[in-house]
Amino acid sequence: MARRVSSASSASSPVLCVVLLLTLLRPLQQVTAAAAHNYFDALHKSILFFEGQRSGKLPPDQRLRWRRDSALQDGSAAGVDLTGGYYDAGDNVKFGFPMAFTTTMLAWSVIDFGRTMGPELRNAVKAVKWATDYLLKATAVDGVVYVQVGDPHSDHNCWERPEDMDTLRTVYRIDRTHPGSDVAGETAAALAAASIVFRSRDPPYSRLLLQRAISVFEFADKYRGAYSSSLSGAVCPYYCDVNGFQDELLWGAAWLHKASLRREYREYIMRNEIALHAGDTINEFGWDNKHAGINVLISKEVLMGRADYFMSFKNNAEDFICAVLPGIPNTQVQYSPGGLIFKAGGSNMQHVTSLSFLILAYSNYLSHSNKVVPCGGGVSATPALLRHLAKRQVDYILGDNPLGMSYMVGYGRRYPTRIHHRASSLPSVQAHPARIGCKAGTIYYVSPEPNPNLLVGAVVGGPNVTDAFPDSRPYFQETEPTTYINAPLLGLLAYFSAHG
Ligand SMILES: *[C@@H]1O[C@H](CO)[C@@H](O)[C@H](O)[C@H]1NC(C)=O
Repeated sequence: MARRVSSASSASSPVLCVVLLLTLLRPLQQVTAAAAHNYFDALHKSILFFEGQRSGKLPPDQRLRWRRDSALQDGSAAGVDLTGGYYDAGDNVKFGFPMAFTTTMLAWSVIDFGRTMGPELRNAVKAVKWATDYLLKATAVDGVVYVQVGDPHSDHNCWERPEDMDTLRTVYRIDRTHPGSDVAGETAAALAAASIVFRSRDPPYSRLLLQRAISVFEFADKYRGAYSSSLSGAVCPYYCDVNGFQDELLWGAAWLHKASLRREYREYIMRNEIALHAGDTINEFGWDNKHAGINVLISKEVLMGRADYFMSFKNNAEDFICAVLPGIPNTQVQYSPGGLIFKAGGSNMQHVTSLSFLILAYSNYLSHSNKVVPCGGGVSATPALLRHLAKRQVDYILGDNPLGMSYMVGYGRRYPTRIHHRASSLPSVQAHPARIGCKAGTIYYVSPEPNPNLLVGAVVGGPNVTDAFPDSRPYFQETEPTTYINAPLLGLLAYFSAHG
């Protein structure tokens, strides 16, 4: 697994260096030939997307106007209020595991890159709060986390607007006898990360988030297990915890450490590092697998010279950084011929944005500490090289790719028009006030026409491994947007809008 070579043993190989640089710089020359991107416009749109995913009662300042209130009875099946939150993707289920991860990444985007968001910062903070208001409801009872609203089989059987929903809004929960350290650990991470976002903006809210993060983490750690064990029928195969719950415990502790600076979380991390497999599968980062994120997050303190006791996390983070570099012999990440990070399994853009976020965040930590990552064979990952790599991925998303199309709806001249998204593809309530039933929506699903409602800012799953893209609703792996594709993108776009 480990590919990192310590700086002392790395011999210089100018040839490899040049090959690597050429590989990375070639696409950049194409970028200069293309029109420069308006990263700020893309940032604005990427945040607007979250308004399109809102569930519950919409506020008066809702800007995406074709959506209406929906799912106002959510939670009633369990006698609790679970209205609000986000639909995860193109369906109308509220899946708690990816929603919590989305929240963590929205918060991390604001924490690391908020100062370059300009007037969009307040909208980004609202996007965080829309999620945390919901997560606070979902964790209001000690020892219980409501982890999902909506029976996915019932939902997926219909092509229905959220405003019309009559599918089963079953409420799913974890508790002491049906634990879920994965979803609870991620929820704790989200609440802790968000407490940092609100620390100076709204101190009482920030304190509430942190207190809740602490109690949810305690529950996650004390009652260990994977939520898919007891909720398999509802969460699998959609958001099944495949890689285990250990990473979410470390991830939750890492965010609590950052948010609270309490010694107990530092000790927890050090005590559990081996048992919870901090160094495993380092080249992954997403709603299921937090490993690379844990290592990058914790490394910042090591690079700042504040936490030598976390050195092994920095070593893991450097393994990760070297593993994602294209054009070197041991690269662990596949790139499409057009230069896009690619992992099999659908919704590829989630890997593109989350890995690029880590690459950019790490490049900033390196810059601030005046360091580079030695990758062996004479290759050094410098902050500039890592920024180029992240920018190349963002530029691909925005249109610098073999098809010359933007994968963000509403950005650029060509973008996906038949995205796999119920609300976007069915006529709006304003255009068609009468209810459209479960199966009555099918004609819109199979229609060759573009979606009537522009879900501005939605980034879709994206092209396949050959850079080809079918702009067609049934190809959900390519044409469905998700909240966790966009969340890390906020940080990337904010950075490049200031340093484009
Ligand atoms: C990629 O998508 C194109 C267009 O839909 C299709 O023709 C091609 O077979 C796909 N390739 C792979 C490897 O899936």
